[in-house]
Amino acid sequence: MIRKAIKSFNSIPRINYEIDGILSPDPLVSHMAKWKNYGWIVKEELVQNFPTVTLFHPDFCAQLLKQEGSLPIRPPPLPLVYYRESRGLGSGLGESNGMDWLNIRNKAQRILLKPMSVSSYLPAQNEVSLDFIQRLKTVRNSENIIPDMYKELKRWSLESMATVCFDQRLNLLSTEQINDCKSYYPEILLNNIEHIHKGISELIFSDWNEHIKNQTPLFRNTMALLDEQTEITMKLIESADKSGALLNHLSREMSPESLNTLIIDLLNASIETTANGVIFLLYLLSKNLLVQDRLRDEINAIVINQPLKQGHIDDMPYLRAVYKEATRLFPVSTFIVRVLQENGVIGDYEIPKNIPIFYSNMVAGHLNEFFFESDNFNPNRWLNSKKKPHPYAVLHFGHGPRMCIGKRFAVQETFLGLIQLVRNFKIEYIGSDIGLRMRLFNTPDREMSFQLTDVVRK
Ligand code: HEM
Repeated sequence: MIRKAIKSFNSIPRINYEIDGILSPDPLVSHMAKWKNYGWIVKEELVQNFPTVTLFHPDFCAQLLKQEGSLPIRPPPLPLVYYRESRGLGSGLGESNGMDWLNIRNKAQRILLKPMSVSSYLPAQNEVSLDFIQRLKTVRNSENIIPDMYKELKRWSLESMATVCFDQRLNLLSTEQINDCKSYYPEILLNNIEHIHKGISELIFSDWNEHIKNQTPLFRNTMALLDEQTEITMKLIESADKSGALLNHLSREMSPESLNTLIIDLLNASIETTANGVIFLLYLLSKNLLVQDRLRDEINAIVINQPLKQGHIDDMPYLRAVYKEATRLFPVSTFIVRVLQENGVIGDYEIPKNIPIFYSNMVAGHLNEFFFESDNFNPNRWLNSKKKPHPYAVLHFGHGPRMCIGKRFAVQETFLGLIQLVRNFKIEYIGSDIGLRMRLFNTPDREMSFQLTDVVRK
């Protein structure tokens, strides 16, 4: 057998930023430009001359993940590490590595990834989605338009996760609270999560050491937001009755400080990601009204009366197909990223240890070689059991021991929200075609208005 010669790390093509599209703020445009110009693997210096590698081929992603070991390493977001160390708080799930990470992960995933624990929150999260519909009916204008749907979805998403993280409702969907929100903790928390994401992503993608050295306004502001968040979540956890599976179990296994840090990580990782996933779905359903009608028919045939149960959702294959298809075209996560602990090989190239390696979640999903007529939004492709897609082509929630720990909650919440939205409204997007922007994950590049017209149920 002839073995291919392994090429050196230095021979991986290196990106030239002058090529058209590569510096686009839209991650899809920029990733496609990199792939078109350089192929399946590229090298670049994203921050401070430190080399990183980006993979576009799902086979390469599989090779990367085979080499990640049982304690996969993700480069930590340095501002969060700094914040937690400087305040003497324990490390969190998202930013720790090694045994520190495993200790937290083992405790948390016993609840967060256990189907029975997740579905124990289904009735409360369904109530939240029903209240969300009532709120939308009240706040839409005389033409049934919600001018900034993303803002509303974040409200719903935090209210829904509060049933898990704080065993209580936060009243964020009440229309009476709207004008009286300045000193109301949940409103402050909602606002705070959004600004923390902006702050951390700006700090990460600029010169972090300079920010610390000069204590820049962005640095100080982000640290102050993190302090505010720590204080509010601590109060909310203290006032929880700890009757739900998560707090009940973890408050006996973790110190109050570590529990607070975990809850903060869950909130920061969930509110905007889930809201983004739903807004992309609503956009695609607006552009594909036949799909929207078919989904509504499936929902109406199954959900005749409330309360909604797990069994109802299990009987909705088209809902799952619509969801998967939306994550292919509009993945919320731009990358998954790992650092190898030993020198490795990907494709034909040597990859030294300690270098961040990204797998782009944006490219393979948009290529005809992995998805027939890849530009078309066609949920049916996921119902065809004969032709399975490449298992690493779309990794919406990552993969392996370090995959998204909130995956089951994200799917449950999304399905509950979508079922109620599609059951109640004909959903139409008002505006021009969207692009993407990357904060720590993909978001729409503009404010999005939707017209929500009541549907009459037969
Ligand atoms: C549509 C919504 C969501 C998407 C697309 C998403 C995506 C991801 C991805 C891609 C990762 C990295 C996985 C990897 O490196 O292999 C991740 C990690 C994580 N996610 Fe999610 N997520 C979502 C919702 C949630 C929710 C609802 C929660 C909390 C309940 C959550 C909590 C976390 C945490 C804590 C991590 C870090 C896990 C670790 O490092 O062990 N996510 N998520």
